[in-house]
Amino acid sequence: MSKALTAAAIDSYRNDGFYFPCRVMSEAEASELRAAIEVADANPGAAAYPDRHNDLYLFKPHMVLKWADTIVNHPGVLDVAEDIVGPDILCWSAGLFRKPARSAGYVSWHQDATNYHLDDPSRVVRVWVSLTSSNVSNGTMVFAPASHQLGQLPHRDTVQADGLLSRGETVELKVDPAMTVPVILSPGEASIHHLHTAHGSGGNDSDQPRINLVITYIATSVRQLVGSDTAMLVRGQDSHGHYELEPRPVADFDSAAVEAHRRAMAIRNRNFFGGTDRLTALKAIMADTETRDGAGR
Ligand code: NI
Repeated sequence: MSKALTAAAIDSYRNDGFYFPCRVMSEAEASELRAAIEVADANPGAAAYPDRHNDLYLFKPHMVLKWADTIVNHPGVLDVAEDIVGPDILCWSAGLFRKPARSAGYVSWHQDATNYHLDDPSRVVRVWVSLTSSNVSNGTMVFAPASHQLGQLPHRDTVQADGLLSRGETVELKVDPAMTVPVILSPGEASIHHLHTAHGSGGNDSDQPRINLVITYIATSVRQLVGSDTAMLVRGQDSHGHYELEPRPVADFDSAAVEAHRRAMAIRNRNFFGGTDRLTALKAIMADTETRDGAGR
């Protein structure tokens, strides 16, 4: 028995690798949460993150910020996730994507499963919650329908001047623009997609910002293949014990939350970048890109 999605919506997700729109909260609630982001931005605790975009907003902001904790634990959001991954749910990651008005930042075509090392993408779902409108003019996400049926495809890491992905990963797939589907959402709506669905997004050519929190929910049975990992139990029971469970923040930047976040990041960087820290990994990627470009590819 589904909680939020109709049988037709679930079929559509299985066939296309994505589905939208899903109303997960009211427009008023989305607008309150959006205002809370600005307030938390001004919190002195935020100043402790010199690289705030990468070290706070793109890495599990729900571990230290109440607005993000509210969204990842929101019943409306979890009902949608439950319809895909079942009743026992961990939040494995979340990241805030903000595209200011008139900004060039883009996301190259990629599959999210790349570098995740999760053993079964069919028991994972990405929920992309829109706190503003998301549309073609403000650089919304665009899907390649049914691309998840191709499974994991090779990617190449690249260095991109305005790219928003940490490794600039780009999928080796010829995407026909005529076949792509842009995600159109109102504030408080969400889109869901499979970890193998190829997607990207362009710059924001509008006068309105685009603000989205993307959350990766996994069934508690999903394993991390490259070592120990952490996650937050957000619904049901965890009878598997594959992850060290993360605490929820009591207040923005409370000291226990900050320490747990730091520990989770050290573990994730080890898994994600194969034992090197991010700076070392990025230098290796840059060297690799220069070599490839120099070879005329
Ligand atoms: Ni993505």
